[in-house]
Amino acid sequence: MAENIGAAIGVFDSGVGGLTVVRALRRALPAEALVYLGDTARLPYGNKSPETVRRYSRLNVDFLLGRGVKLVLIACNTASAVALPALADELSVPVLGAVEPGARAAARASQSRRVGVIGTLGTVRSGAYVRALHAIDDSLAVVQHPCPLLVPLAEEGWTDDAVTVTIAERYLTELRALDPDVDTLVLGCTHYPILKPALARAAEHVFGRTLTLVDSADAMAAEAAAILGQRHALATGTGTLDCFVTDHARITELGPRFLGEDPGPVGVIDL
Ligand code: DGL
Repeated sequence: MAENIGAAIGVFDSGVGGLTVVRALRRALPAEALVYLGDTARLPYGNKSPETVRRYSRLNVDFLLGRGVKLVLIACNTASAVALPALADELSVPVLGAVEPGARAAARASQSRRVGVIGTLGTVRSGAYVRALHAIDDSLAVVQHPCPLLVPLAEEGWTDDAVTVTIAERYLTELRALDPDVDTLVLGCTHYPILKPALARAAEHVFGRTLTLVDSADAMAAEAAAILGQRHALATGTGTLDCFVTDHARITELGPRFLGEDPGPVGVIDL
């Protein structure tokens, strides 16, 4: 696949939260060209049915394939949880979701072999993280809990705010009731990495000790690098980023919040 070296890595998400994955990719693979699509017109995916999320995901992938990408990353945990298996069968390029890398990182991190997972309703209902963790090690004890209010709080920029800590404490109290001995918490949603300070504080209050927070964005970037390395498809030039959204309303405000830098000009497309 040497002819694909110059092709971009395509990343899609339901919105701008997937820019946390782009941020991790730019750190891990600074020479790569990246194409990002945020389906902001249809966000959120987290409380939609699996059928709808699969339909939207196909449209996103078609757009990225039209740009000739060499690898597709599904930054959205909900789309990874419900659409990845079907998409992986259909695509001619490798596709990497958020769930497996996050699960592998959590399985490596947990000393107590007891893992908690938080994510959207769709991700939790799908059971994808539980399956992925058990496929790695079926002796792992896994509990999970949906945290739907965390997405709007992250978008609001209340990343280390007392209100966010209080809400996270409530969710984590419900998780703790399922298993007080988890030592590792998978942040199974694109938006959660920017809430890490609040989540760390809430976890410490609720569990009375520090939990290891697994950021699936970092785990995905590391695995993307490994996939391209194995296929001798790592770029050598100067990295670029082309961002697209399906609705532009909040991109100027939210883009830098999740990417950690100005995303530059953002194209608006209709799928
Ligand atoms: N991108 C979604 C995820 O990671 C969160 C936002 C949404 O619900 O669309 O699950």
